Amino acid sequence: MTAAMDESVVANQPLDRFGQPEEVAAMVRFLVSEATYSERQAMTRTHPDQETLRSALALASRAPSVHNTQPWLWRVGHETLHLYADESRRLPHTDPDGRDLLLSCGAALDHLRVAARAEGWEATIHRLPNPATPEHLASVEFRPTTCSSEDIELARAISRRSTDRRRFSSWEVPAAHLEAVIAAGASTGVLVRDVDAEPARTELLRAFERAASQHAHDDSYGAELAQWSGTHAAPQGVPARNAVVTGSDPTARRFPHPGLPQAVVRDIDADDRMLLLSTSSDDRLSRLRAGEATSAVLLTATRLGLATCPLTEPMELTDTRRRIRTNILDDTGFPQIIIRVGWAVPSAEPVPVTPRRPLDEVVGPLDSSGS
Ligand SMILES: Cc1cc2nc3c(=O)[nH]c(=O)nc-3n(C[C@H](O)[C@H](O)[C@H](O)COP(=O)(O)O)c2cc1C
Repeated sequence: MTAAMDESVVANQPLDRFGQPEEVAAMVRFLVSEATYSERQAMTRTHPDQETLRSALALASRAPSVHNTQPWLWRVGHETLHLYADESRRLPHTDPDGRDLLLSCGAALDHLRVAARAEGWEATIHRLPNPATPEHLASVEFRPTTCSSEDIELARAISRRSTDRRRFSSWEVPAAHLEAVIAAGASTGVLVRDVDAEPARTELLRAFERAASQHAHDDSYGAELAQWSGTHAAPQGVPARNAVVTGSDPTARRFPHPGLPQAVVRDIDADDRMLLLSTSSDDRLSRLRAGEATSAVLLTATRLGLATCPLTEPMELTDTRRRIRTNILDDTGFPQIIIRVGWAVPSAEPVPVTPRRPLDEVVGPLDSSGS
């Protein structure tokens, strides 16, 4: 990957029209007009037109992904859309068994579903449709639907969401907010547990410390992290301006050359909540679904105004993942990802938007995939 790329590559991305705060209103107008347009179209069409599909895919590309690798490929068929995993973007030293990659693709799949719905199309998703092609993660069919204001709010959350790696404020997250966020994740069949009580919370923080310490002694992991972070204008990887100066926060991944100042929080008992997502199996389908649940949790939390940060470092090592499974889940499920949720410190600047690859690099016609 090239760390420094021409600014114009980023500026030309079609996603930029949704990326800036002052353009959120324009996006809502777009979604609302698109919804009524789609309702008119619903009588006659059975598949979204190219422009509608493209704008849904642009929003899907805003999905979070490990190290902002964006390991997805979309293939557009005559009346179907297909999601493929781009295995060439798996991180061999961070994500040896490809869990983070599948989670990232699952998040993109759910973003696509949310975006399509706001444009008046219900997505029917067939997961892992072809056992002979494991990288074929989903085929999607559409049928017209009428979208609600909630659907539009959730789609708006896509362009508002950013990974916020800073400490959150000491304001309590209301129980009703937590319930809504947990229910959104659970609706995908994934268990979402608020790890609040002791000794589970301390156990979880210890797992982060152990993982960070093991990774600190792994040169290959360090080289991979350096390759995928500290970027300035690249359309992939974690930009330096998004990597927080970690300080004493055990949950923060230690990106080299961090450029985001830590938030000033006087109360050391900051009220961030740690939501642990787990599945009853640990196969590809479970991981894909955990990614969809990740999207559901993040978008619901964002819609409620909460800041979020997906975290997987302790899941990337066998030892720390096993400890979480045994000591927190009582060996009843497989931990997949942790999502830290809370209120951003009011004085903190908004987190800068992380760039994405141009849409044409990840979207193509079905017959060009070779699959
Ligand atoms: C599966 C997965 C694992 C992630 N793990 C971490 C992590 O351990 N630490 C972290 O700071 N961010 C993590 N992230 C956040 C990504 O780095 C982030 O989504 C990406 O840089 C794009 O930025 P954005 O979310 O602000 O759009 C993870 C995201 C996903 C989907």
